[in-house]
Amino acid sequence: MAQKTDWYRDAVVYQIYPLSFMDSNNDGFGDIPGVISKLDYLKELGVTAIWFSPLYPSPWKDYGYDVADYRAIHPAFGTMADFDRLMEECKKRGIRVIMDMVLNHTSDQHPWFKAALADPKSKYRDYYIIRPGRRRGGKLLPPTNWTSCFTGPAWERIGETDEFYLHLFAPEQPDLNWENPEVRKEIQDILRFWLDKGVAGFRFDVFNLYSKAQPIRSDRNPFRLQKGTNFFVDGPRMHEFLQELNTGVFSHYDAYTVGESYTPDPEHAHRYIQRDAGELDSIFDFEHLTSDSVAGLKFLPKPFSLRAFKRGLLDPQRNYFHTGWNTLVLENHDCPRSVSRFGIHTRRYRYEAATMLATAAFLGWGTPFIYQGEELGLTNSRFRSMDEMQDPVSRFVFDTMTKDYHIPKALAFPMIRYGARDHARTPMQWDDSANGGFNAGAQPWQSVNPAYKKINAKRDLAAEKSVYRFYQSLLRLRRETPAILRGSVTEYDERSRKLLLYAREYEGKRFLIVCNFTAKKTPCTLPAGFEKAAVRLSNYAAPAISRELTLRPYEALVLEAR
Ligand code: NOJ
Repeated sequence: MAQKTDWYRDAVVYQIYPLSFMDSNNDGFGDIPGVISKLDYLKELGVTAIWFSPLYPSPWKDYGYDVADYRAIHPAFGTMADFDRLMEECKKRGIRVIMDMVLNHTSDQHPWFKAALADPKSKYRDYYIIRPGRRRGGKLLPPTNWTSCFTGPAWERIGETDEFYLHLFAPEQPDLNWENPEVRKEIQDILRFWLDKGVAGFRFDVFNLYSKAQPIRSDRNPFRLQKGTNFFVDGPRMHEFLQELNTGVFSHYDAYTVGESYTPDPEHAHRYIQRDAGELDSIFDFEHLTSDSVAGLKFLPKPFSLRAFKRGLLDPQRNYFHTGWNTLVLENHDCPRSVSRFGIHTRRYRYEAATMLATAAFLGWGTPFIYQGEELGLTNSRFRSMDEMQDPVSRFVFDTMTKDYHIPKALAFPMIRYGARDHARTPMQWDDSANGGFNAGAQPWQSVNPAYKKINAKRDLAAEKSVYRFYQSLLRLRRETPAILRGSVTEYDERSRKLLLYAREYEGKRFLIVCNFTAKKTPCTLPAGFEKAAVRLSNYAAPAISRELTLRPYEALVLEAR
């Protein structure tokens, strides 16, 4: 058993999507030397850990979430020696490294899958989920009616045979068979490999899909849009698998674990992170990020609901407070930019809105996860056509809309653009030179957001007032304030459709977070005890405090009761 220091409870994690962060050798793809050149920028921001989206060799059918070798570095990113140097450079700056573990599936180019296909008698056959198809009136149908999370059937036929393999994502991402103890042993070895290299923890990709209910069968619920989720989300052996990983691996290291969940059931969500359950330290539960789409379908826009957002953001903070640990997230590589959603759509108040969102999210109870560029208030890109988007999901969904549902292209395209993951994957905007300083001018793998001329790191660093500078102050306040790191969470004005208010309290100190989610002046009555509060952080010139305030557009305040 390793001594657990719970370091993650004071950490600020920054997510790097390596393909789009910094391209040092001008080949169009970000790389590890590029990351190293920007570590001081992150250190100054207040970052204490980095989560790297997959750095492993991969055919990039899903840009790294299709892993072909779990123990190596993609040549476009550099070498293992580069990675070791990255670890050293991070260590010098007190920054920990968290690796992305994509263990629900591999790439179809992984040697296990290749061996499984090459020889039906190979032991690797049982590393995957392979089943005979169903014969119906002379037609060969997939083994079940399950749908992939990326649209379409979740099964791919193996050549001309009668067998199919399961892929809950793209066909090039075959699902691993977690029922097989040998697979689970391989996974433990992979985790140990990275921990022994000194990494500080893992983010587990769609972890709550590992366990599929056996025997595998069709979903008979005619109303369920995505067929099969009742059999593969929070499956029957989920808790057992996590406990096994914990006993076998995590408990022997001072490692932090965060699981990315896929529409988890709240009861399971809670169990995954309960301290005495010995499973994970925390999960990402994206409930609040579905507050501007229909039924969580990100390509189906609906007017933003602040009330739904508040429930998703604040409920876990209250519900898990005594038992587990929470994560605070507004963006990642799968989401549009936060300042371009949540009903914000403003150019005029970009600074105010970006800083207000950060205040709302990152002073809560849990570990903040900042996605690259969020600290600059980066906006969605202005894609003009499908050709400017590289994400296969944008293409899959566009094809489904136009071919299967006959939605005209002119209607489908804005829907795709609304929810596209591509917005988060445009090259990082470092300065106003060609390609936003991402590289020395070679065509980047993903189109550049034309906003880089105005919105970039160089500009933010040169200014006294900028989103980056505000993030610095916010993270400093967080670091220095035990009530924000540890305090309880009490919400006010829960039913307000305009304001988000919550207090953090610890050892007699009380702080209040006040956020106006609208572009209009909005009256706000402070809860008792804050009439004479001191302003600790504000995205405008600090106002005079009294019980009744009028908040300015997207105003955010942090008050300390006196
Ligand atoms: C979640 C990841 O964040 C996403 O980028 C990926 O496409 C799927 N899991 C499949 O691995």
